[in-house]
Amino acid sequence: MDFYSAIRPLFWRLDPERAHRFAVWSLERAPWLAAPAPDDPRLQLEVLGRRFANPVGLAAGFDKDARVWRQAAGLGFGFAEVGSVTPQPQSGNPAPRLFRLARSRAVINRMGFNNQGVEAMAARLAATRASGRLVLGINLGKNKATEDAAADYEIGARRLGPFADYVVINVSSPNTPGLRALQGREPLLELIRRTHAALAEACAEPPPLLLKIAPDLAEPDLADIAEVALRGYLGGLIATNTTIERPAGLDPAFAGEAGGLSGRPLFDPSTAIVRKLYQLTRGRLPIIGVGGIASGEDTYAKIRAGAILVQLYSALVFDGPSLIRRIKAGLLQCLERDRLGSIVEAVGLDHRERP
Ligand SMILES: Cc1cc2nc3c(=O)[nH]c(=O)nc-3n(C[C@H](O)[C@H](O)[C@H](O)COP(=O)(O)O)c2cc1C
Repeated sequence: MDFYSAIRPLFWRLDPERAHRFAVWSLERAPWLAAPAPDDPRLQLEVLGRRFANPVGLAAGFDKDARVWRQAAGLGFGFAEVGSVTPQPQSGNPAPRLFRLARSRAVINRMGFNNQGVEAMAARLAATRASGRLVLGINLGKNKATEDAAADYEIGARRLGPFADYVVINVSSPNTPGLRALQGREPLLELIRRTHAALAEACAEPPPLLLKIAPDLAEPDLADIAEVALRGYLGGLIATNTTIERPAGLDPAFAGEAGGLSGRPLFDPSTAIVRKLYQLTRGRLPIIGVGGIASGEDTYAKIRAGAILVQLYSALVFDGPSLIRRIKAGLLQCLERDRLGSIVEAVGLDHRERP
């Protein structure tokens, strides 16, 4: 039994948001975790113009204000994504807004982009960026009250782009009214064009721009997104955010709560989106697969479906941080079983073996 399993009963007596705050607070007091542990060379890869020690990243939403991104290295992650961050600080939706569905190994959240804003993040990154050895993604959102959404993403890109290894346009959170409508073809083109221009203006070497999408998109929307992505402004896609669907069999205590569902029930739908996007983009764009990953096998399945990197969040709630090491060990076993020499050889393998 690891340390987290031992303290989990206590931890879970706290309400979920408190438990999260306590986790961040503890990590802030563990600066030694900023030193990355060495990874097996078979897990290393180069993508998005960066070297990754391994393909497993911390998903957006855990470290919304970039307080503990460096410590993710010591937990074994190969990269971390901070945010979503909005131009102005905002408090998000009223609590309770975060729910554990233990029996379903799922989470529902309707946080609503609670964060301290781009200036606070910029100040923190100015102080920590140089000593952080991890690949850093910065995930941008918009303030609830903003009408010209693209203007908010421009502000985020200008102010935070210079700190980022990659920047994410998040238009897929279900908790900001109207946000997901930006995934339509015309608004998306405009949004990507303007954010890209802001990055080019602010950064001597602009980091790649990625788009994070919802799992609830229909096939014609995915085709539009793939087409827009292949036009050249996007360096990659992140699939997916949380879902507004409520699959049958969910923990009845919370299944009726509004918000985005993540964790195990999201695994199959989000992997299906990765698979479809890989086909639609003909494997030409890096895809970060996220949704329901809780094991080496899950990670491997996302990679075979077409992801070159993966991320997770919800499984940490149930399994604690030692999960990352178990995932990497499991991933190596999958490579050995399939006689592959490196993780990159597994990317999109399903499409080659099962046409
Ligand atoms: C509490 C919570 C807050 C989140 N906040 C954000 C966010 O601010 N921006 C974002 O792009 N995704 C956010 N996400 C979505 C995750 O990054 C991820 O896409 C989703 O949870 C699926 O992965 P998982 O099943 O491993 O949790 C959040 C998820 C959770 C559970």
